[in-house]
Amino acid sequence: MAVHEILKMGDPRLLRVAQPVTEFDTDALHLLISDMLDTMHAANGAGLAAPQIGVDLQLVVFGTDAVNPRYPEAPPIPRTILVNPVITPLAGDDGLLTEEEGWEGCLSVPGLRGVVPRFARLRYTGFDQYGDAIDRTVDGFHARVVQHECDHLLGILYPMRVRDFTRFGFNEVLFPGLDAATDD
Ligand code: NI
Repeated sequence: MAVHEILKMGDPRLLRVAQPVTEFDTDALHLLISDMLDTMHAANGAGLAAPQIGVDLQLVVFGTDAVNPRYPEAPPIPRTILVNPVITPLAGDDGLLTEEEGWEGCLSVPGLRGVVPRFARLRYTGFDQYGDAIDRTVDGFHARVVQHECDHLLGILYPMRVRDFTRFGFNEVLFPGLDAATDD
């Protein structure tokens, strides 16, 4: 078990466009993923991107158990290792691309939450750690988490997506009923 330090906003390593993974199923890649999962679980995170531990690669891990204390209302998302992801926003039944607003936090922006617009529905493709293809169409919270994590690979942190700064602030002020353990 190796829990890494999570870089915080202001660190220039969080602002890089990450490099693609070129070799799959290597000892180094498996070790990196194991460390990322340990780090994510230790922080009760819903996801973690490699740049958040200073690794300049297009790799994200995400997933929630049925009860994640940081996201108690959210439906579970299967644990996913996603390498070299590509996101394609999809139209809804009405043929229109739709955005949804939702609260987000980030392990690199501790103590804060903000409302972020995200595409409501999307397809994501990429590879798992063995190089096998992943191709999923998702919506709702799953789509939100994928967009948040893949933004990290473009050097984008969620506060850069906030449009209404009246809905951006400190956890304990915005959500005074939440346990301190749910801090980002
Ligand atoms: Ni994040």
